[in-house]
Amino acid sequence: MRMFDIIRKKRDGLALSEKEIQWFVDGYVKGEIPDYQASALCMAIYFRGMNVEETTALTFAIRDSGEKLKFNNINGLRVDKHSTGGVGDKTSLVVTPIVATLGVKVAKMSGRGLGHTGGTVDKLEAIPGFKTDLPTEEFEEIVNRVGIAIVGQNATLAPADKLLYALRDVTATVDSLPLIVSSIMSKKLAADDDCVVLDVKTGSGSFMKTKEQSRELAEWMVAIGKAAGKRMRALITDMDRPLGHAIGNSLEVVEAIETLKGNGPEDLTELSVALAAHMLVISDRGSYEECERNVRRVIENGEALMTFANMVEAQGGNKEWILHPELFPTAPYSLEVKAGASGYITGVDTEGYGTASLLLGAGRNTKEDKIDFAAGIKLVKKTGDKVEKGDVIAVLYTSDKGRLDVAAKRLSDATFIGDDKPEDVPLIYDIVE
Ligand code: URA
Repeated sequence: MRMFDIIRKKRDGLALSEKEIQWFVDGYVKGEIPDYQASALCMAIYFRGMNVEETTALTFAIRDSGEKLKFNNINGLRVDKHSTGGVGDKTSLVVTPIVATLGVKVAKMSGRGLGHTGGTVDKLEAIPGFKTDLPTEEFEEIVNRVGIAIVGQNATLAPADKLLYALRDVTATVDSLPLIVSSIMSKKLAADDDCVVLDVKTGSGSFMKTKEQSRELAEWMVAIGKAAGKRMRALITDMDRPLGHAIGNSLEVVEAIETLKGNGPEDLTELSVALAAHMLVISDRGSYEECERNVRRVIENGEALMTFANMVEAQGGNKEWILHPELFPTAPYSLEVKAGASGYITGVDTEGYGTASLLLGAGRNTKEDKIDFAAGIKLVKKTGDKVEKGDVIAVLYTSDKGRLDVAAKRLSDATFIGDDKPEDVPLIYDIVE
């Protein structure tokens, strides 16, 4: 086979065979296919798309490029939850201890931040001492004892995705449906879970900007997961505004803790309860109503927070910080961003908010960048709120004073103020089963 022929075939809108897709993935991982040819193929896929058979073949080829996890020593059903990427999305920190408290095991591999979106592993590393890399026996022991452990994706899991993602990130080919489906599902299928709930984001802060694209993404991921024998469900949820009021690693951990105590923002609480209830339903824990009742009960009685604190302790972190989140240090520099006009916040460019947080130091511009865990944004006003000119709409935090002004401009530019109150939009648009 020749890479030239494969690129030309896709460029001309023809479907690739399973063998061609496997040959490409295999050759790229071995370093036999250069980046420039792989980029050309990604761009051809971006413009020409892939059918379900091709996307399934690509997903399986990426999954098979590395180790497939097997947790032989974990007792009981395992459930996972995955978000396609958002801003201020700390739901994994809230829902996983809830479902673990209710008896379904969570043996989670999480990712780091990508572009303007945050990652669970970076958030957990804001807790001092927390280890996101554990030997398998220790990981399994913690899952059996505490009900939950969360680690970073190890390098042997779907290595083709690591290479392809880095390439897509710099060749403007991230937001392609078959490439996102295969990237996410290859990793989910290589992990050893029985049930997966996907939170497919839609809107200005997500990779898929329209509901139609997000629905298609959800349907394809659910179908491929089912074809591989997993129990699947997807929620299509709003990302036209950040979730909750906190963006940035420590700030988000603190907001997740408040939500586990029952004091979280309404949108974050509503989505977390729904995701956790769906995770329990597909894990045979009763009807949606029963599961939702149980989720609210373990928030109210503090059991879910204790599970989170126990996981943090088991993974080497300081449990006291979870029980007393005021221990998280505040960044040394802050700046209030004020409304430039009076009216209503009619909408925000959520990606712009994510970028402002990244500019403050909460994310990475290059793989090597160190994260400033205290950096980020606290939103004082959100879409639909009334503001007077000069009202504080957000507070920015950073350890590097020089970053404040550029981030403030980015956030102001991403905030739209007008005369009319915008219509309320649902947080959950649809459920794909
Ligand atoms: N998350 C992933 O892991 N891959 C994508 O392509 C997009 C979001």
